[in-house]
Amino acid sequence: MAPGNDTQISEFLLLGLSDEPELQPLTFGLFLSMYLIIVFGNLLIVLAVSSDSHLHTPMYFFLANLSFVDICFTSTTVPKMLLNIQTQSKVITYAGCITQMYFFLLFVELDIFLLTVMAYDRFVAICHPLNYMVIMNPRLCELLVLVSWIMCALNSLLESLMVLRLSFCTVREIPHFFCELNQMIQLACSDTFLNNMVMYSGIMLLAGGPFVGILYSYSKIVSSIRGISSAQGKYKAFSTCVSHLSVVSLFYCTGLGVYLSSAATQSSHSSATASVVYTVVTPMLNPFIYSLRNKDMKGALMRRKGNTFAVLVGMQTGAATLENRMEVPQEIKNRTTQ
Ligand SMILES: *[C@@H]1O[C@H](CO)[C@@H](O)[C@H](O)[C@H]1NC(C)=O
Repeated sequence: MAPGNDTQISEFLLLGLSDEPELQPLTFGLFLSMYLIIVFGNLLIVLAVSSDSHLHTPMYFFLANLSFVDICFTSTTVPKMLLNIQTQSKVITYAGCITQMYFFLLFVELDIFLLTVMAYDRFVAICHPLNYMVIMNPRLCELLVLVSWIMCALNSLLESLMVLRLSFCTVREIPHFFCELNQMIQLACSDTFLNNMVMYSGIMLLAGGPFVGILYSYSKIVSSIRGISSAQGKYKAFSTCVSHLSVVSLFYCTGLGVYLSSAATQSSHSSATASVVYTVVTPMLNPFIYSLRNKDMKGALMRRKGNTFAVLVGMQTGAATLENRMEVPQEIKNRTTQ
């Protein structure tokens, strides 16, 4: 690195996913389609949940919040990338880069927090079905969402302020398609020890903490499901968490994969390609996972008529109703055989 040239630079270059010019139209088309699917699919969920009173349950409120955050999340990276391909420029301003980093971090962390809150919601629904509506009251739901926003906003503010104190020298090429915290820190030519400390403790606390919470919720859920005697009851209780479990696994596995691979290889181009999965593919799949797995959501989206939702609410109000449905036929069967 050339010494003595540590004036503050005014712009960065986003190298994107590939340098080959013939791949640019393909990349543009692919990302534009994925972006449109993400916005449309997630918007549909937000509209379906807010327009139908039968979907006004904690689980669907959190799902709508997740969809909203997913739209914001991809909107911080993909439009800028498309614009750069279209104008054949790689430039992003210093302020633009810091802003993009701030919002990207904010929405990624919110995704993680909402997934954790949703795990807690499933835990209460299955382990404390009789008190579900009392525990998950609207005030607690709002509080959980609010606290998530505040914590995530504060942490990404801290991370961004930490980057502001770094100075960048001659190397101003970011081998990625958006300004990512880790890449920015690696690019700096001032001492980055403190930044790395803050970044890794941020990841530990704001991704590791929720992960432990999710694991704990699911360990309780699994032992509770084991206690259900009938196979059908087991299946029904489990089926209310399958969608959530799929989304969580997808998000954490890809996110972890990206961070481990970038820590192991230092080759940023491959980690940029890998991060496409959790920045674009995961938000794109969420609506499909939720609406395809969930008959009622599917029905709701297709017909968009109030009464068709009614069936699903019974399923989502927790295992109490599930158990009741199991028990009644059992009793009737016993009586008839006597
Ligand atoms: C997010 O969750 C809160 C609390 O449950 C709810 O009041 C709000 O409507 C949700 N937001 C969206 C966009 O659905």
